[in-house]
Amino acid sequence: MEVPMTSVDSAASLDLSDLSFEQADLEESLPAPYYLSDEIFAREKEEIFFRQWVCAGREEQVPEPGDYVLVDVVGESVLIVRDTAGDLHAHYNLCRHRGCQLALPAALPRIEDRAGAPAGASGHFHKAIRCPYHSWVYDFDGSLRGAPFLRESEQFRKDDLSLHPVGIDTWGGFMFLHLTPGDAPPLRQQLGATMDLFARFPLADLRTVRRITYQIEANWKVVMENYNECYHCAGVHPELCKVVPAFKQYGGSNLDWSSGIPQREGTHTYTVSGTSTRAPFPGLTPEDASRHWGKLSYPNMMTSISSDHVAAFTLWPTSPNSTTLTCDFLFHPSEIAKSNFDPSDVVDFWDLVNHQDWGICEGVQRGMASRAFTIGYYAPMEDPSLDIRRYVMSRLQPHSATC
Ligand code: FES
Ligand SMILES: [Fe+2]
Repeated sequence: MEVPMTSVDSAASLDLSDLSFEQADLEESLPAPYYLSDEIFAREKEEIFFRQWVCAGREEQVPEPGDYVLVDVVGESVLIVRDTAGDLHAHYNLCRHRGCQLALPAALPRIEDRAGAPAGASGHFHKAIRCPYHSWVYDFDGSLRGAPFLRESEQFRKDDLSLHPVGIDTWGGFMFLHLTPGDAPPLRQQLGATMDLFARFPLADLRTVRRITYQIEANWKVVMENYNECYHCAGVHPELCKVVPAFKQYGGSNLDWSSGIPQREGTHTYTVSGTSTRAPFPGLTPEDASRHWGKLSYPNMMTSISSDHVAAFTLWPTSPNSTTLTCDFLFHPSEIAKSNFDPSDVVDFWDLVNHQDWGICEGVQRGMASRAFTIGYYAPMEDPSLDIRRYVMSRLQPHSATC
């Protein structure tokens, strides 16, 4: 079995005793077209991203009544707005008259230009949503309030012309959208395992202080599969393995993510040293605070939690071979308020690890584009990656659900 290596230096960090895994049973990965084909990508959009709850950022992106943010859900523009009672609503970003977009991304300021706020097209509506074309006016809940020079009639009934709804729900300060709301299950039904695992963390209290957006030239499933295994960690992440030695032991086969991954003794966070002056989140036991927690939540959320911060990844496929990924860094307000608060130790360390991951993912994508590639294999310690094969196959080919 070959071990992934990015350079001679990183290969030198491998402990050869780690390679003595006895089991050699391999499982086949998804075949090449699942990573390359436009047709399969179109089906994934329709069957997965338009029919599942997708993570769409943080509630603090729309803090006040009338605030809105636009989210591009795999090519569908969605408008999220907070109403005067404080409730969130989501609509397809188009007018019921002639279809004009209600908020025009190109004309909007980027929220990343505002200090401390995450990126994304955003803005503020005064009292209502007014279409920029002929000024039809909608309430924040999507109902049509009025249209200039038009009185209601048999053909023009305001109740029939509300904005097209998108399902929205929240958990832990994260916003989730469902583009087929009539078929949407309760959010907990899809996200229950994540909710239960992370119940010990005060996620709703945290705030985003930085967002990095990455353009990755790789299929979204390559990024997901990479997050789901640590077989690659020893070769790709030498700095990370110094902080979390468990990542390089036995190819990551003994990691128990449900209990958190123990860090090197004396460390408690993801920085070069593994330490920081920030306090752990309130309410954590010392044992929980000495571990790293991670969870992939299909289809587009990856959450990594240390004692003093969260790295929240949201993944957006843009083509069969490209993915936009946002990485939000969340901290507790009591730490953010301190005059010496500086998240750069965390942000810089994650940015290093992220670039290592995205670089290797792009290498996978280029390799899979070769005419010589037909299918890959999962080693035993990559078993969690098999979940993505089952997840995708069961949604695209219902009769293959047991694959
Ligand atoms: S397209 Fe919106 S008012 Fe005409
Ligand atoms: Fe990695």
